[in-house]
Amino acid sequence: MSHATQTYDFSKPDAAYAQLARELTGLLSGERDLVANAANTSALIYDALPDLNWAGFYLYKSGELVLGPFQGKPACVRIAIGMGVCGTSAQRRETMLVEDVHAFPGHIACDSASNSEIVVPLMRNGELLGVLDLDSPKLRRFTAADQRGLEALAKIFIASLG
Ligand code: SME
Repeated sequence: MSHATQTYDFSKPDAAYAQLARELTGLLSGERDLVANAANTSALIYDALPDLNWAGFYLYKSGELVLGPFQGKPACVRIAIGMGVCGTSAQRRETMLVEDVHAFPGHIACDSASNSEIVVPLMRNGELLGVLDLDSPKLRRFTAADQRGLEALAKIFIASLG
């Protein structure tokens, strides 16, 4: 399968995310493997969104979050539920949009370049599968439009697993 890198116009975020959602649906169609689909999802997001320094997955295993497929610098491997932005999102089962990670109590600094972060919990049949985590070197990088768009992409990823 070939995958041509497209450009997305994020000056119109809802339209850009709708285009990205179509792209992700095509990219994952016909494949159910979790690692393969998480890898391609993180690669598509990291390639498409401006101003990211990390995009990837933590997967829920044996009561904690364990690093999954990602793009960016090497990261912390295990995160306890309730710890950091990722562990808080997993515990609350809600998206965490953090404008300034330095103001977030307990933020786990994997890459000192990160200044803002968004974490989307991944729920499958009522159970926690893990989280999708994006980091940016820009303060206030993520908006409500990013939250809507990324939650839609997370749904497409979860649905691809069958
Ligand atoms: N900053 C995250 C840790 C994961 S890295 O950003 C990849 C957190 O506080 O949970």
